[in-house]
Formats: sequence, structure tokens, C-alpha cells
Amino acid sequence: MCGITAYRGPTAAASRARNALERLEYRGYDSAGIAARRPDGSTMHARTLSGVAALAVVVGEEPADATTAAIGHTRWATHGEVSEANAHPLEDCGGRLYVVHNGIIDNADALRARLVGAGHRFATGVDSEVIVHLVEQAQRPGVGLGDALADAVTHLSGSWAVVVLDARSGALAATAHGSPLICAEAGGGTFFASDVGAIAPEVDEFRVLEDDDVVEVDAAGPRWHRSGGSCRPRGLWPVPRTALLASTGRHRDHMGNEIDEQPLIARRVLEALSPGIADGRLWRGLGLPSLDGIDRVAVLGCGTSLHAGRAVAGVFSRLGGMPTRTLVASEVAHEVWEPRTLVIAISQSGETADVLRALDSLPPRHGTVLALTNNTSSTLARRSDAVIDCLAGPKVGVAATKTFIAQVLTGVCVALSGLAAADRGDSACVDADLRALAATPDAVAAALDTWRGPCAQLAADHARASGFLFLGRGAGLVYAAEGALKLKELSYRWAEAHPAGELKHGPLALVTTGTPVFVVDNGDPRLDVDIAEVTARGGRVIRIGERVLNVGGVALHLPRTGPSWGPLESVIPLQMFARELALRLHRNVDKPRNLAKSVTVS
Ligand code: M6R
Repeated sequence: MCGITAYRGPTAAASRARNALERLEYRGYDSAGIAARRPDGSTMHARTLSGVAALAVVVGEEPADATTAAIGHTRWATHGEVSEANAHPLEDCGGRLYVVHNGIIDNADALRARLVGAGHRFATGVDSEVIVHLVEQAQRPGVGLGDALADAVTHLSGSWAVVVLDARSGALAATAHGSPLICAEAGGGTFFASDVGAIAPEVDEFRVLEDDDVVEVDAAGPRWHRSGGSCRPRGLWPVPRTALLASTGRHRDHMGNEIDEQPLIARRVLEALSPGIADGRLWRGLGLPSLDGIDRVAVLGCGTSLHAGRAVAGVFSRLGGMPTRTLVASEVAHEVWEPRTLVIAISQSGETADVLRALDSLPPRHGTVLALTNNTSSTLARRSDAVIDCLAGPKVGVAATKTFIAQVLTGVCVALSGLAAADRGDSACVDADLRALAATPDAVAAALDTWRGPCAQLAADHARASGFLFLGRGAGLVYAAEGALKLKELSYRWAEAHPAGELKHGPLALVTTGTPVFVVDNGDPRLDVDIAEVTARGGRVIRIGERVLNVGGVALHLPRTGPSWGPLESVIPLQMFARELALRLHRNVDKPRNLAKSVTVS
């Protein structure tokens, strides 16, 4: 994933920008670069395909690193090949301005043609290069770097987080639109970064640039602009304690490490939140209204976050007996809202445009919005009445795994706390759910151990299968849906999830000899009949979560009732199988084709 860092301050700017890049390395990248201004006005500009470590050599050659302004970038190519020339920082025609950019410029081709016509010389094939030439064009005597950048971005369509270095003056200017960028001050210097983890050891607090804010930093310090005029700096956020907790482990891909980290994440969430459940403290501490004053809970999100929302919704409806809806965020526009609705908006990134648009469509005085996010300084968090951090730590792989577990558990803790605060739910059922919740980290760990070998074998067995079915009932259905999403996203094979009861109404026609059919077993006895329907047609059933007792060589299937959010640990083998199959098919499991980590267009 692309990462931006920048620093302007008394000394060692290049080292600081480089060290920050090192902290972004875990996100994955294919090239890196840095540009810095030396005290004599000359520029250091280095780009490499050999990793951030290679930049250390260049920076180390700087005598006592007296650089006072620097920008750095890690690039994960999406547009333009992986090459040193395409790595950022990108340079203008005159060797004075340097730009780092995250995002996509949709009208880059048209702008490039116009700029070439006006005499600009392009050195790369990447969309980002138009920005540096636009700033160059806008910079005239009497126009500051911030104003030049503000002018330049009026020509852009797409998304951007940009920092420009004027190597002659040592000024920096930054702006953002649909792509995150933060600014922080510490030790007499100013930092910019696309991810708080990049500067977490250096600063205690940071500010988030809202869309189209421009921050210019020169000898007088940072100045905030908006549409030509100055504006007050945005509010301060504390650096979250999970900012530096990226998953590490034995796998070469991030997804494998993120899957393995899930027992730890489950423990982290429960340690932080479960003490506030029984007495309703967690709910009240978020400033949420009593559930007695709520007529409906509406949970919304997209993709995996929507699935997490469906699991959480089960606590309100199954345990709390509350009218609860789950809504696909991109379809919310035509909803009819009841006045006393609690909206729970779930988004790992907190920047998903469909979720933000869904909030736009809420009528005035619609009720309370609770954001459940992995990014408490995100746009979603800033626009909600209450925010809960899902505590998953930095996520690198595009496919959501550890964030799913974290979202479900965070949401479950909040929901249970809300029911406790309002004294709702049958006490025996609540107790059973609390016991199941406490046992989740071990259940997730056991699922990892149990399924590691079998998943690899299953992937080998099904490498040629062109399609997969995923079935479930009741609270198990959402995990079947998540398994199908993971599989199609990673392996590019067809995967459909259905309520098992719907089989005979159509999907059964897909089943033939050897068709792989995953069944998430939540203990519903009707699944036995569903499974028989599949096996009778030659389908191969892979049953996840069944409890079997072996009595004298005879397998007895035990009924069980799971918690109100369903058999969460059943998602583990489904994630593992999707990854194993994708690796076997030589897919890039961290960067599936056509998909982005944060979907900032609706
Ligand atoms: O950042 P968000 O949680 O709002 O993202 C929503 C979806 O785009 C996301 O969950 C997507 O479905 C996953 N990458 C799938 O693994």
C-alpha cells in the first residue's frame, strides 16, 4: 500500500522521513523514495526498488543530516509499472518541486495532454506526475506554495493525499481529498503522514486534514487554508495505542499473519471491553441512549464489515428481542427511517464512501449514530455521535480477516452492555452468551490448530473446482456468506452463499458430482436434511463446526445452541481455505485483482 511521510524542522528531516517510511514498510510496497532540502539549498533525491533500507545508505551519507525539510513515499504500483523512474517523489521540470501522492487521478490523461501542450516535460508514466506540473504551473511570484497546491488540485478529479516540497525555499504544502493525511507537531517540527503508525513514536497527538484543507509549513510554522482563506487547525486526536501493532509472523504474505493473529486480537478486545459489559458501563461510557428509548437498531456496512454487522445484529434481535435491520450501505438511499433508530455504522477503514453516503441520507434528527471502526480518527468516526475502536491494529491485506473478528467481538461487547444497561434479555441466555464470549479466544485458537492441515489438503483437492457453495442457517448463515466472499475475492472462483433451506428452491441445480459445498454448522438439526440433499447429488460436503461424539465407532452428531452472534470461530477455516486455494492458484493474497483496501468511491 502506498504511504506518505514528510517532515519540516530544525534538523535531520531526511532521517525522520526515512524512519517513518520504515514504520510503513509492513504495509507492503514495491518502491520507495525520498527528497530532502539541504541547508545550502541543494536537493537530495533518491528512489529505489531495493527497499527502504537502501534509502538509509543515501541518507547516511548526509553530513550529520542537516536537512530541514523532506518528503518520503512507499509505492505499491496500481497505475504504471514498478520502476525507479515511477517511484515517488516525482519532480517538476525545473528540479525545484517534488511531490508524493496517494490515491488515483481519474483525469490524469487529459491533464497530461494539456500540460505537455503547455511545454511541460513528463518523466514517468504515473498519474501522480500531473500534480507536480500543475503546482509548477500555478507557482508564480507572490503565490505561496499552499495557494499553488490549492490551485493545482482544483483541476483534479479522483482522490488524493499530497505533500509538495519546494526544495528552494524548504516549504512544504499538503492537501487531501478522499485519501487520509494527518499532520502533527512535536519538538519544533511538523510531520505529515498517511498513517498515524508512521509517526507514532515521535508525536502524542495529531490532526486530520478534512477534504480540501491545505496546510503550508515554512519558517513561520504550519498555516491552515481553505478555499484561499486561512482556517483554524483541525482538532487534536491522541495517537491510538494500537497504531504500531502490525501483524508479524511466519508467513510471507500479510494475510497469513493476520489470520494467525486472531486469537490475540480476540483477547485484546475482550480484555479491553468485557469488564464494562455486565453493569452497562461500556454502553453508557459511549454516551449511547438507553435501549428502552430505541425502537429499532439499524446496522449498516459493506462487504466483510456488513457481515460483521449481521453477526452483531443477532445480539440485539435474538437475545434482546429488538427489531433490528442490517442494511447494505450502498442501498440505504431509499430506506424509510423510524425516528427512534440507533444506527450502527461498521467500517474497518472508516473511509468507505458507501458508508459515508449512507449517513448523508439519514433524515435530520434520525437518532444516534455509533461508528464501529478500526480508525477512530477517520471520516466516519468524526461524523458519528459515538465511536468504538475495534482494536484490530494496522491491517495490510486487502482481504479482511482479523478486522472481521475484531468487529464482531467489539460489536457484541457493546450490544451485550447495552442490553445489560437496559436490563433486557433472558438472564440464562445472557449468561450463556457471556460464557461463550469469554471462550472465544480459545475457540479461535483451536480452530486455527485444527484446520491448518485439513485446509491445505482441501485446497489441493479442490484446486480445479470452478465453483463453490456455502450454506448455513440462522446465526451460521453470515459466516457462510463471509466464507464465500473470501473465496471469490482471493481465488477468483465463483462462490455463492445461500440459506440452506433455499437449496431446493434453485441452487441445488448447481450441485453435481464433486461440487464442493461448505456447510457452517450452527447446530440446527435441519442441516442434516440439507446435507443429505447435497450428498444424494454427488456433492462433496465440508462441514464446519459440527460437534461429533464417537460412541463405539458410531458418530453421533450433537445438537448445540450457539451464542446469539453465531459460531464465530467457523470463519477461521473458511479464511484459511480461501488463502490456501489462492496461494495454490498463484494469486496475490494480499492484493487481489480489481480490489482496493479502502473503497473511497461510491
Ligand atoms: O473499510 P471497510 O470495512 O468499510 O470496507 C468495507 C469492504 O470494502 C471490505 O470489508 C471488503 O469487503 C473486504 N476487503 C473484503 O475482504
